[in-house]
Amino acid sequence: MPEKQSPPPVILITGAGKGIGRAVAETLSSRARSAGKPVQLLLAARTAADLEALKVQLDGGGVECDIAACDLAAQPLLPLEACLTRFGRIDALIHCAGVGRFKDFLEQTPEDLEFTVRTTSPRPSCCCRRPTPRCRRRRRATVCAVRSRS
Ligand SMILES: NC(=O)c1ccc[n+]([C@@H]2O[C@H](COP(=O)([O-])OP(=O)(O)OC[C@H]3O[C@@H](n4cnc5c(N)ncnc54)[C@H](OP(=O)(O)O)[C@@H]3O)[C@@H](O)[C@H]2O)c1
Repeated sequence: MPEKQSPPPVILITGAGKGIGRAVAETLSSRARSAGKPVQLLLAARTAADLEALKVQLDGGGVECDIAACDLAAQPLLPLEACLTRFGRIDALIHCAGVGRFKDFLEQTPEDLEFTVRTTSPRPSCCCRRPTPRCRRRRRATVCAVRSRS
């Protein structure tokens, strides 16, 4: 009997337009190609042009990308919904979207701290709520949140 192929992993990467998120998307794509194992990526950030350019760069050779341009502070669930609509599930969330108003701690105003925390920390837990029932049924999922120790 022919071996049953498992579907390609579906990975949602927030903050994929620049920095760490972009490097993660490039590395996952390159590894998938080298291993001959397809992967499906949902790339999210605010700047659509960054995401479109990355999609053009990565698509092909077993890598399939889609993009969701949105501000996670305003629409934390939009990339998740886009991923479920496009690929039908999520196997891993790699949350790299983040901003910081980097100053000496005593120079940070309450607004600075609130802005950083609102835009970064609560989002992974918020993002996880929606797919959790499906992941429970499948008994697996991976969440990785890139954060600053400060
Ligand atoms: N780089 C480091 O050395 C370092 C060290 C420790 C911790 N970190 C933490 O790691 C995270 C990523 O750092 P990085 O260096 O990769 O930053 P980066 O180069 O500025 O990239 C951040 C990414 O997140 C997106 N983003 C930011 N705010 C967003 C929002 N509200 N909604 C949607 N997307 C948003 C940005 O794109 P748009 O602007 O287009 O939305 C960009 O694609 C941050 O939380 C940072 O504090 C970084």
